[in-house]
Amino acid sequence: MIAAHTPRELIFSDVANDIGPAALTVEGTLPGWLRGAFVRNGSARYGFGPVQFRHWFDGMAFLQRFEFGEGNLEYTGRFLRTKSYQAAVEGRAEYQSFATPAARSFGSWLAGLTTKNITDNTNVNVVRYGNASVALTEIGAPRCFDPQTLETGDLLTFNDNLGIGPTTAHPVRAGKSWVNFTLKPGMRSEYAVWSFSGNGPRNVIARISSKRPAYVHSMGASAKYAILIEYPYRFDPLAMILGGKPYIENFHWGGDETLIHLIDLSGSAPPVTCSAEPFFCFHHVHAFDDGDCVVIDLVGYDDASIVSDLYLDRVRERAPVAPGLSLRRYRAPCNGQDATREMLSSTRMELPRVDFRAERPRYVYAPRVGEGDAFTDAVLQIDTMSASQRVWERPDESPGEAIFVPKPGGSSETGGVVLFVAFNAKQNRSALVVVDATTFEECARAWAPAMLPLGFHGQFWPNY
Ligand SMILES: [Fe+2]
Repeated sequence: MIAAHTPRELIFSDVANDIGPAALTVEGTLPGWLRGAFVRNGSARYGFGPVQFRHWFDGMAFLQRFEFGEGNLEYTGRFLRTKSYQAAVEGRAEYQSFATPAARSFGSWLAGLTTKNITDNTNVNVVRYGNASVALTEIGAPRCFDPQTLETGDLLTFNDNLGIGPTTAHPVRAGKSWVNFTLKPGMRSEYAVWSFSGNGPRNVIARISSKRPAYVHSMGASAKYAILIEYPYRFDPLAMILGGKPYIENFHWGGDETLIHLIDLSGSAPPVTCSAEPFFCFHHVHAFDDGDCVVIDLVGYDDASIVSDLYLDRVRERAPVAPGLSLRRYRAPCNGQDATREMLSSTRMELPRVDFRAERPRYVYAPRVGEGDAFTDAVLQIDTMSASQRVWERPDESPGEAIFVPKPGGSSETGGVVLFVAFNAKQNRSALVVVDATTFEECARAWAPAMLPLGFHGQFWPNY
């Protein structure tokens, strides 16, 4: 572990052990209807003696659960007990991960030489596939866990032969199914775009070939189309096999266009590809059909330098440069003509979320990326119709991803609350914060017994 002093060092410092279960004291008033579990995933420990991870995305997976019960709020945080975690605890740098070298390269796995040395550190997201609660990453199989105790379960086995990656940790809802892809690298690589009902085999709805595949962190979906975007941040599979570099260090920025693939969800027409300006994106926000176009909202960058700026030695020291970081709207014509861009907000933000029920969500929730000492310094509610925004902010507090939870039975996009974890750098501890989505005022908070990691992504599950 390193000694942490500055707000940036503190928020990217190590969590040593599991936390709780612990009853939390609520300050303020929780809505009486709020019942369920807010479950989060993310990196929480980066150093284990001789094993030192290099990138924010490499930290060991730590699941967190805030359970809103009848008059009580309980917190539990647990590391996933994966083989990668066990190796790190024992001081073995054995498993290849996103940006940290290991005994055997990612390329050796890609070449089929081994299936044993790829990380199983599923630290990015959580989702429910049928009755299974799973933790996801973008290399390797999903990991089941107990949604009540957070105890680690088995790897999820899909009933097909599509393989396990590279993929995204952001399966997207399309009707009653989930949509994602699995990349099969080779001389001519192929994205197999699939839908999955939560049980049984994945159903391939399109195959898209690519000579030099792109780094794709998430997908989008409208009612009619799945959206897979290839940014000009690509890798050569042969060089990856021969080079022995960590996964992300095989990708290189270059080229003069981005390719937006529109995949007919009904399977009745082949994919259509639109060209767009060069840009990069981690997170789609939402997409919808609008006449003869698909409208794609996302958080975009002018290039992929944000990936390098999230190495731990850099992110602990300074704000990412993140050129062009903004909320953007791309219009992709269904006939394959060039896509166009519109700016929705030039405020620097990441980890965007919306009311998942809305066909055309008006409001986007996202932490604001800090320019100074803090990695994040506010939560935004952006009105994409009026281009205005409302802001939650507190001195010395850095929030993580903010989730909108609708009031049961309601349909208003602001009829509910926004949940997030905020880290207070001055007090070196974290709180769960509840903001009323109508007023955008904080209505309650509950301090955790310790500093909690910023984390990546989470979901609210009303039935747990
Ligand atoms: Fe993500």
